[in-house]
Amino acid sequence: MPVSAHRRPDRAIDPLFVNRWSPRAYSGEEIPDAVLELGFEAARWAPSARNAQPWRFVYSKRHSSSWESFAGLLNARNRQWAGNASALVAVLSRTTHDDGTPILTHSFDTGAAWANFAHQVVLAGWHTRAIGGFDHAAARTVLGVPEDHAVEILIAIGRQAAAETLPDEFRTLETPNGRRPLSAFVSEGAFGTP
Ligand SMILES: Cc1cc2nc3c(=O)[nH]c(=O)nc-3n(C[C@H](O)[C@H](O)[C@H](O)COP(=O)(O)O)c2cc1C
Repeated sequence: MPVSAHRRPDRAIDPLFVNRWSPRAYSGEEIPDAVLELGFEAARWAPSARNAQPWRFVYSKRHSSSWESFAGLLNARNRQWAGNASALVAVLSRTTHDDGTPILTHSFDTGAAWANFAHQVVLAGWHTRAIGGFDHAAARTVLGVPEDHAVEILIAIGRQAAAETLPDEFRTLETPNGRRPLSAFVSEGAFGTP
């Protein structure tokens, strides 16, 4: 079923924004480097405070020598589906400028980069699902993340597969979800009561 059967925006936005959704069912097929590079290139053009570009990405392709150590970071629930992704990407962010002052918006800016990545990947015919459920401390060690970088998320990336390929508990969840209306999170002049 097309995404448009589940998601109807209230205003005439570009379809890209609703077409980006996060399946869990992936084919596990090999991902071309060019697809990953497209995503990273889109991330590169995200805005950031003082143009510090604090994002860092460390990836592992399925069947590569680093795959088991990446997949081993996932919590038990996420391991059930993310093991079929074609790549896992660790998203990190630098927490200090060259002069040692803190980059107060490192996570915010890196979130913008992740969004660019996710949307570009959809345009290339692939999908992503962000993962916060993993061992952040182990990721720091396994990936050799320096002290002045924060571990943000993992991204699973793959070609969408049929929901039937998922374990039972995820099968019924494999549908694009909805969103709150603008009135629930936008107000003019002061913080409004939704
Ligand atoms: C920071 C972050 C962490 C997330 N962590 C997980 C996770 O650990 N496991 C999971 O299955 N989905 C995870 N998700 C996916 C969200 O549940 C999903 O993006 C959300 O329900 C909105 O759905 P959509 O991406 O299909 O629009 C995460 C998403 C984000 C942005």
